[in-house]
Amino acid sequence: MDHETRRSIVFIGSECYPFVKTGGLGDVMYALPKALADMNCDVKVILPRYHCIPAKYQEKMVYRGSFDMDLCEDGRSYYVGIMEYVWDGVVYDFIDNDEFFSYGNPYTNLVDDIPKFCYFSKAALAALNYMDWIPDIIHCHDWQASLVPVMLRTLFGGTALSNSRSILTIHNLRFQGVYNIPTIRYWTNLPDYVFNVDVFKTGYEDANMLKAGLAYADIITTVSETYAGEIQTEFYGDGLDAHIRHHSGKLRGIVNGIDVVQWDPDNDPKLSTAYNIKNVLNNKKENKKALQEELGLEVDEDKFVIGLISRLTNQKGLDLVNEVLPGLIDGNTQVVVLGTGDSYYEESFRYFETQYKGSVCSCIMYDEGRAHRIYAGADALLVPSLFEPCGLTQLIAMRYGTVPIVRETGGLKDTVEPYNMFTNEGNGFTFDRYECGLLYDAINRAKTLYFTDRSDWDEMVKRDMAKDVSWSASAEKYRELYMELKPAFE
Ligand code: ADP
Ligand code: GLC
Repeated sequence: MDHETRRSIVFIGSECYPFVKTGGLGDVMYALPKALADMNCDVKVILPRYHCIPAKYQEKMVYRGSFDMDLCEDGRSYYVGIMEYVWDGVVYDFIDNDEFFSYGNPYTNLVDDIPKFCYFSKAALAALNYMDWIPDIIHCHDWQASLVPVMLRTLFGGTALSNSRSILTIHNLRFQGVYNIPTIRYWTNLPDYVFNVDVFKTGYEDANMLKAGLAYADIITTVSETYAGEIQTEFYGDGLDAHIRHHSGKLRGIVNGIDVVQWDPDNDPKLSTAYNIKNVLNNKKENKKALQEELGLEVDEDKFVIGLISRLTNQKGLDLVNEVLPGLIDGNTQVVVLGTGDSYYEESFRYFETQYKGSVCSCIMYDEGRAHRIYAGADALLVPSLFEPCGLTQLIAMRYGTVPIVRETGGLKDTVEPYNMFTNEGNGFTFDRYECGLLYDAINRAKTLYFTDRSDWDEMVKRDMAKDVSWSASAEKYRELYMELKPAFE
């Protein structure tokens, strides 16, 4: 590899569209490697071979080799199979092991997930050595891959990989992989000295896998500049703010983009009517009527349709939505929810659907196709998050000419410019403090513009569609970061 001009990078993470996706991490693990491959980077992605990966992909995987690997304190070793799939210039290597990856979901509960991702992190590094594919950069994602930087400098210290540099990206600080020290020591067989307060130890007896990865990674990134600042404060730091402040010299914020081929209203097989910036005003209405019909809502192109596509957890500001929703239903407004998650929110949205039949539709399910049709058919998309590292739904919404209504936090703040009624600039409606009155006000400002000044509204729709939400600028920032990092020992 020519170190002056090119870098080889391996992405290690727990999900990746279209194989397995539970949220935005899956989108990023797909779109960023693809964007980097287009920029002349040599990219590999290592993932678990979960049983839930659809058969159409499993069938195309090619056996690349297998070996036995030591893992636990008691010397027990485990099978590591490597199944390969090459697509769009990116090589995907799936780590195969039935004992760890045979559940229906990528994540189940910590009792199973801790051993699963201890195994996965070590197997990913061992697989690179086995394939003799020694990358310049090992780019790890979230707590599930956060042991990789630690193992790289300890268990793999004397191997060919020791020259590689590591980056750990925080997609969501809420999830850290915390369990008692004896369990994590058993499943990793890491040396005693890493179980101290600067690396793993947290509280009296727990080990925190993300904390350890942040200590050992050469560079830490997170998915927006605002979130990079927020996680150094107590409110957003989830107990790690002091640790992150300590390591802030190696922390960068790089905002996410979306794959504009995967998300393209002009070429989206899941939509009934294609549209682009030239015909959006007419053709979006067709998508709105098709959506209303699909969901059993009153079919009327003049209704203001608000979409919400989200994991149903308190991160997403759903307590505010629950407070304001009854006040929104005024005969001219419809609300469409798509999401799964905490039963508390699933139940409240089901309740609203029965209470406001014809005006509210709650789809308590995970459905890619329906998500596309809501992005296309809604007028506005709600993202009132309590915290939001980046958020992709507001980016997809803008690409589909759907006006985002967001709270000014994390990546939402960095990507949605507030509407200025005096200059007629901006991309959406925003509010700052986490208060239902402010969300209600933001939605009403949107409705006022929509119902009283349609031409200004339509201009905003077009501005949103014209906005660059692709990966190009941010992938270039990652590429520059990779170029800055020289081999560990030259
Ligand atoms: P997070 O990663 O916190 O869940 P993001 O906004 O980064 O939030 O990404 C969410 C991704 O998951 C988007 O691609 C969104 O369209 C998708 N998504 C969320 N819930 C659903 C659902 N119920 N059905 C289909 N897609 C969903
Ligand atoms: C996380 C965050 C989300 C971000 C996504 C991809 O799941 O909650 O804000 O967009 O990761 O980075």
